[in-house]
Amino acid sequence: YELCCLHNKKNYSQNSKIKDNTSYARDEKDVFEKPKLFITNHIATQLGIDTSLVHDAIDIPKKTTLGDLILPLPKLRLIGTNYTELGKKLVNTIPSSKYIKTIVAHNAFIQIFLNPLYIYQTLLPKVLTEKENFGRYNEGKGKKVIIEFSSPNIAKPFHAGHLRSTIIGGFLSNLYDTMGWSVTKLNYLGDWGKQFGLLAVGFEKYGVKEDFLKDPINHLFEIYVKISQDIARENDLPDIHRKTDREAKQFFERMENGDEEALDIWRNFRSLSIDKYIETYSRLNIEYDSYCGESKVPKKTIEYVINRLKEDHLLKKKDGAMVVNLTTIEEDLGLAILQKSDKTSIYLSRDIGEALERYNKYKFDKMIYVVACQQDFYFRQLLATLKLMNFDWVNKLEHISFGMVKGMSTRKGKVVFLDTILNEAQEKMYAQMIKDQDKLKQIKNPKETADKVGISGVMIQDMQSKRATNYEFSWNRMLSFEGDTGPYLQYSHCRLKSIEDKNQVYMRNILTNLDFSLLDDKEAIELVRIMAQYPTVLSKALENSEPSTVVLYLFRLTHQISSCYKTLWVDNEEKRIAKARLALYSSARHILHNGLRILGITPIDRM
Ligand code: ARG
Repeated sequence: YELCCLHNKKNYSQNSKIKDNTSYARDEKDVFEKPKLFITNHIATQLGIDTSLVHDAIDIPKKTTLGDLILPLPKLRLIGTNYTELGKKLVNTIPSSKYIKTIVAHNAFIQIFLNPLYIYQTLLPKVLTEKENFGRYNEGKGKKVIIEFSSPNIAKPFHAGHLRSTIIGGFLSNLYDTMGWSVTKLNYLGDWGKQFGLLAVGFEKYGVKEDFLKDPINHLFEIYVKISQDIARENDLPDIHRKTDREAKQFFERMENGDEEALDIWRNFRSLSIDKYIETYSRLNIEYDSYCGESKVPKKTIEYVINRLKEDHLLKKKDGAMVVNLTTIEEDLGLAILQKSDKTSIYLSRDIGEALERYNKYKFDKMIYVVACQQDFYFRQLLATLKLMNFDWVNKLEHISFGMVKGMSTRKGKVVFLDTILNEAQEKMYAQMIKDQDKLKQIKNPKETADKVGISGVMIQDMQSKRATNYEFSWNRMLSFEGDTGPYLQYSHCRLKSIEDKNQVYMRNILTNLDFSLLDDKEAIELVRIMAQYPTVLSKALENSEPSTVVLYLFRLTHQISSCYKTLWVDNEEKRIAKARLALYSSARHILHNGLRILGITPIDRM
């Protein structure tokens, strides 16, 4: 049963009679709220039980065939009751109202089908006035969330894990923002460590200034590859000949000791790389509030962490390193190294320090790390260490994990940064578009369109299954216009937009003299019922942090829109009918538009 319902609000205050203006309601103007209250009050009175119990039990089913609202009677916990019998009795006692068309008792469930006219009247004017703001709520008002995502390592390849983190993190940022939270987006760069010593030495040997300025990320990576090869070669020689490795170590030590000359070189690598990052992330509509990184964690904070653990006798020496015992938190967590024998900080201690810094700086209500499942165990250790240190805000931390992508490659071979993937998506999309020259001529900026559509292909492929599932990266599948793909959603948006454009005369005052009773075809009714679920879908996605909740919904929506096209025409129809249908299509477009935006996709108007 849990699987078939979209949403179920769990806690709100207990009060006997629920009125329309009580504040627990997600939005009193939400289509489902008033009918829900009506039924709640009625059933609670009939059974002599608390209204909150009934209100909590009513859900919105995923499939509209099960009703617009559903009440699983066992959730009322009436011990010793035959729920099937009770259902049959109850449905006959519910008086008729403007909200409800039919109520059906089905096994232990009561299924409520709303009056389509009521849905049209409540939903369509709201969508058509609120437009891009429809679906925005202030549920999270006054609450602050920090979302850390993407976090690539400078001079190392941008792998599929970073791609997914970018896409899922971008989605979560938009979703929290839509729900009224104040969102701070962080990119925690891998910008510290021995590899920078290596890079500096490599740059002296292989660096070309112009190449670096033109394409810093790729150039640094090339240098990294070459100098690593040198090291590998020297490794076979006796110690005294291992010059490169020694120099790299020395350079990093200078960085660690605050040598300004060394730091200047490193800063230059970092800042030019960031300039490029900013440009590329903007293609995905992502703008970070801060590029933090491992380098920015204050040494002092890390020392404080180490000292505090020492004072509390939580730190032990093991083979020269300092380790913390986490088995008291959870058996399998074992020991975690916090400081190496040479006293340099490591990934884990930096993360602990960074978490402290962030809490002091932001006083967040929630902090989310979007990082691949390879680091599941690591994040458990991180959270456990913070817990061991008695930071009560550790409960506000959440690791959002995801599965692997297999076979992500591009024509140029190795993916060094995000733009290699995005460029290839654009090129492939463009190659498809030029096959239809007539259509191509109608598009104002075909290259830009190819970019947007190509990117939506990459993104939808990534977000259509549950986060935890692994998937196979496939250019052909993701860029196809057939089946459930990004280009298909974009196409659907374009088609709706062109209906609006062709009927601008009606669109100008679409809300006046609308006669919803003309929308009584079953395709239209099904469409508006799906549309009404949009706010609930967003709440559900916020609960489970699953982009697929939104993606699958948009497919349901667009499939139903397609079914409507077969019979519900606008062109050459009588004015009243044309207008009513237009209002329906235009509302559907706004919802599709807003949903795509939350996913991080730019909806396009023409393709
Ligand atoms: N730079 C890391 C990597 O590429 C990811 C950082 C994840 N975030 C964190 N706070 N540890 O593996």
